This record gives sequence, structure tokens and C-alpha cells, in this order.
Amino acid sequence: MELRKNMRNSIFLILLASLVLSATRCKGGVTSTYRRRLGASVDMPLDSDVFRVPTGYNAPQQVHITQGDVNGNAVIVSWVTPDEPGSSVVLYGTSKHNLDKMETGKHTQYKYYNYTSGFIHHCTIRHLKFDTKYYYAVGIGQTVRKFWFKTPPEVGPDVPYTFGIIGDLGQTYDSNTTLSHYESNRKAETVLYVGDLSYADNYPDHDNNRWDSWARFVERSTAYQPWIWTAGNHELDFEPSLGEKEPFKPFKHRYLTPYRASDSTAPFWYSVKRASAHIIVLSSYSAYGKYTPQYRWLEEELPKVNRSETPWLIVLVHSPWYNSYNYHYMEGETMRVMFEPWFVQYKVDVVFAGHVHAYERSHRISDIAYNIVNKNCTPVPNEDAPVYITIGDGGNIEGLAANMTEPQPSYSAYREASFGHAIFEIKNRTHAHYTWHRNQDGEKVAGDEEWFTNRHWLPASN
Ligand SMILES: [Fe+2]
Repeated sequence: MELRKNMRNSIFLILLASLVLSATRCKGGVTSTYRRRLGASVDMPLDSDVFRVPTGYNAPQQVHITQGDVNGNAVIVSWVTPDEPGSSVVLYGTSKHNLDKMETGKHTQYKYYNYTSGFIHHCTIRHLKFDTKYYYAVGIGQTVRKFWFKTPPEVGPDVPYTFGIIGDLGQTYDSNTTLSHYESNRKAETVLYVGDLSYADNYPDHDNNRWDSWARFVERSTAYQPWIWTAGNHELDFEPSLGEKEPFKPFKHRYLTPYRASDSTAPFWYSVKRASAHIIVLSSYSAYGKYTPQYRWLEEELPKVNRSETPWLIVLVHSPWYNSYNYHYMEGETMRVMFEPWFVQYKVDVVFAGHVHAYERSHRISDIAYNIVNKNCTPVPNEDAPVYITIGDGGNIEGLAANMTEPQPSYSAYREASFGHAIFEIKNRTHAHYTWHRNQDGEKVAGDEEWFTNRHWLPASN
């Protein structure tokens, strides 16, 4: 009788222990049960309306803007004229009917294997007023096209501002859904783009006509609000077999960044301040080892971040450091080893990455204790560490990354194999509301969300 009672107790204890264990193992990690239908994401044909060439001789196309200086008083306007150089002038002003100011830019052109680009114009407009709507026109003297943008408020700690985050967009029907879904969120004022733009390199000979079609596709957003560019692997276009040995050639000619303003020596890593955020852009595909230009720039950049002025420190990089999908697994590891201690030291709030074609958000964790001999190589909770978000779910031709490592690592807070975009809505110096929106849901629905409290201004427990 006593024996049976002891056995019953033991079984109960074992059951209890395994329950506690499994609860511990699953703590915080959610793998969404929702999964978008799997299947190829097909590129939209070149005669699709989204790629339409604007009418008129030599009409400017592929219009896009990005921040042109550190603080947001300047905008770089870029566009392509297909037939002849035409004019690099931008007319602009605060009245729709009176574009009373003028700036002259420059144009460039490049060849890639058997492709020759149109005339790519870049014009930096400086000394703009903060928080002001400007109208602008390009194609002066030929076919004029008009657009507008709004400058950000002056940099300051309590300035609310809303960023959209998009990555790995491509030009499929799913890409179009992602962009339309993003546009339906009227609050978002600037896109933080985490790399991999056109996927032209998936075409024979890296058909650069797909760089043109992509820029025409996104013009409906990029002409009206700045996209802050990060370079991904699909921007490399390094193809010695075609005689193309200069990495990033098409990207570099088409998409300027204000890198000199932040003392960077190359367009692929730089920083901007916008409202209450300091945004650092890094390049996964440029050297970042000790003593390299990127390493030395970041080493000098991080101490310059003034959290009293810009409480929110955001990093953009293409290849994620924490990724529990079976795609691009550990590709971000070497950069993590180089830079993660700094991110913890300087309390980076959030790191947005792309590359993996799915969605994932981490807890605040770090993995910086390992020293080769001590075996401390498991990520641990760390309130000084950033949240890592993979948002490579724009919907490009390569399809979804649906295969995950199992079990879900304890550092992973939420993951889902769906296409979508994210919104980072800064309320003030202490709070920001983050949401991820899967394409299948309406604008108001958040597939994942998190309130960020700023550790510089509030204790982490708040
Ligand atoms: Fe990528």
C-alpha cells in the first residue's frame, strides 16, 4: 500500500517537473499558428500598371527622396530621364502654385554588362524649414512632374514621429500588397528600409531594367516620403563572370545616402537624426572587422549619440544577428561578435534587419559573455540589450522562409512566416508603440505588438 502511494507520489512529481520544464522552455516564445499559403511569389509583368512609364517626352520617372543631411533640413531628390539628360533642376516651394525656389543637381549614368542606364539625377535641397510641407517639380523644360514631401520636426527628445519598416520588398504581387498595406497607414512618415530592393540580380545577366521597374513601382511612396536606405546582398551585383567587379554599382548610382554628413567614408554606413530618433545604418556586406573603415566609424559614432536630444537609438542592418529560421542561419554572426558589446554598452533600443523572408521579434537579450574557453555562449536576458526584429517579409520573388528551428529559442519572443511591414510610433522620450502588420490583416490589426520603454529615461521595469 505504502509502495503504491510512493509510486503515485513519484509519478505526480515527475509529471509536475516535466510541466514546469516545458513551461520554462516555452517562456515568452510564440510561434504563430498562422501561416500564409505557401507558393511562389511571382514578379508582376513589366506591362503591369504599377510599372507604367509616365507619359511625355523624356518624362522624369523613378522619383525618390531621402534625407539629405544629419538633422533633416535637407532632402536628396533623385529621378531618371530616359531619352536625354534633360534638366537636373528641382523647383520647390511651400505653396503648391508658386515653386519659387530652385536647386540644381547633377546627373550620372552607368553601364552594367549589356545594359546602359538612363540619366540618373540627384539634387540635394538644403536649408529647408522643419515641419513644413514642400511642393516640388522635376523635369523642368520638358515634361514636368510635381510631388510634395513634409520635412520632419526639429530634432528634440519629445518629438513624436512614426516610422514604417519594410525590407526585402522586390516586385511581386505580394510586394504590391505589402506596399499598399503600408500606404494605408496614414501615420507613417518615413520608411526605414532594411535592404534588398529590386531583386534584379535574380534575372539573367542581372537585368538592370528590373532596377528601373522597381523604382517606378515604389515611386508612389518614395516620391512623397523619404526612405532611409540600407544595402543588402541583392544590392551587391558583384558578377565577375559578366565583367562586373565593382560591388554595389547599380545601387550606388541610383540611391544616394547622406553619409558624408555623419563623417562616414562610404555610402553604405551612416547615420541620420530624425525627430527624436538617432538612426544608424550599417552594411552587412562591407568590411566590419577591427580597424576597417566601418568599424572605426561606428566606434566613433556611438559615443556621439546624445540621448538627451535623441532618446531613441535605432540600428538598421540587412543580415539579422538573431534568427531562428533555417534560412541565412548564423550569417549575421560575425558582425554580431564584432559589434554586440557596443550595442549593449550604448543601450541601442531596437535593431531592424531583413534578409530572412519572414517575421521575428526577440526579447531583450545579449550573448557577449563568451570568451572561447568559458562555454558561456547562450543568449541571456539583458535589459541593456536591444530588441532584435527581422522584417525581411516584403514579399519578393524568392518566397517565404517558412522553415523554423525547433524548439523556438528562448530569446525569440514571436515569429511568423507571413509577409508584412512594421510601424514604430514614437510617442515621446519614454514610450514608443511598435506593431507588425501581416498583409492579410487590415491596417488597424497588429499581428504582433510591443510597447517600448526608453531605458535612458525610465527604469526598465516600467
Ligand atoms: Fe538579403
